Amino acid sequence: MPKVLGVRIAGTGSATPPRVLDNQWFVSKLDTTDEWIRERTGILERRAVVEGESTATLSIEAANNALANAKMSPKDIDAIIVATITPECQFPATASFVQDAIGARTVASFDIAAACSGFIYAFVTAAHMLQAGTFRNIMVIGAETLTRITDYEDRTSCILFGDGAGAVILSPSEGNASSGSAMLNFHLHSDGSGSTMLWVPAGGSRLPASNMTVNERLHFMKMQGREVYKFAVKKMLEMVEETLGEAGLRSEDIAMVVPHQSNKRIIESAREKLGLPESKMYTNIERYGNTSSASIPLGLDDIRRSGRVKNGDYILMAAFGAGLTWASALIRL
Ligand code: UT7
Repeated sequence: MPKVLGVRIAGTGSATPPRVLDNQWFVSKLDTTDEWIRERTGILERRAVVEGESTATLSIEAANNALANAKMSPKDIDAIIVATITPECQFPATASFVQDAIGARTVASFDIAAACSGFIYAFVTAAHMLQAGTFRNIMVIGAETLTRITDYEDRTSCILFGDGAGAVILSPSEGNASSGSAMLNFHLHSDGSGSTMLWVPAGGSRLPASNMTVNERLHFMKMQGREVYKFAVKKMLEMVEETLGEAGLRSEDIAMVVPHQSNKRIIESAREKLGLPESKMYTNIERYGNTSSASIPLGLDDIRRSGRVKNGDYILMAAFGAGLTWASALIRL
């Protein structure tokens, strides 16, 4: 059964660091080529933080842009949720830094770690908080500085990742299953048996940071790329079909699918199987690489600001990633 919640997007914002890492930057450091990277991933360039920039600074910039877009004051925000796997520090939550910096009241602020599915997990959580009637406007942020945990000696993974943040202000609406702004369906899934397929082994309670972990580069991301790829192709299609089917919609009813941006080939494979035109499958991977939980909110902000979607349009978000996790949310703007 589809799960309908009356919520609307009141504003969106994004932030990416100015420093660009193009494919040539990798060619100058590693045994790789621009052609290999383009063909295997679709990535042309990504953004990377420099000293002084961090997951919190990107989140704060995206949040302020979302407030301006929604024409809201920080005082209007009743909760802040940051989805991230590259937090400002181990604790407190990145959301605490955001709450202080944007000048919000002493409202609930916390992080969610569900990797590349994190933004959808946070969005669905916020929608439920709004549905209960105790919150009005919730700032939902997906933010990452993946370049901080990328192993630039591992050519199979380092070419993929970039930094960025996207923010969405979610508010209650009168929308229901047949009309108005609403979330019309969602799915949140996980399978922890794949938890070491994509992870950072050291730096947590299992293997605290030490000289050994640094020497063995265990504080960097490790990924079984081919296995994750197979999982992603399968789950992407399954999720889209399941989420739309339950809501009684077909792929042609959708104005835009905003998928997690991990590999252009994964996105293309889903697009072809769903029979969608290129214009209805959003991508930003060419410019930003894989930004994990930031990729979908960056996309939402882009399609809203560029006028590619309008009120009443159906948008489907779908993501998969470490955990393993996978998640989808279908909304009517
Ligand atoms: O966001 C969350 C989840 N993450 C993902 O969804 C990522 C999923 N995985 C992928 O996107 C792909 O698996 C990669 C892009 C990481 C790798 O692409 P692939 O087509 O699966 O390549 P592969 O790992 O099967 O490697 C193919 C060949 C190998 O050489 P041999 O053994 O065939 O001689 C690799 O050593 O490509 C080689 N290779 C490279 N060559 C040039 C691997 N990385 C590179 C490189 N440049 N950077």
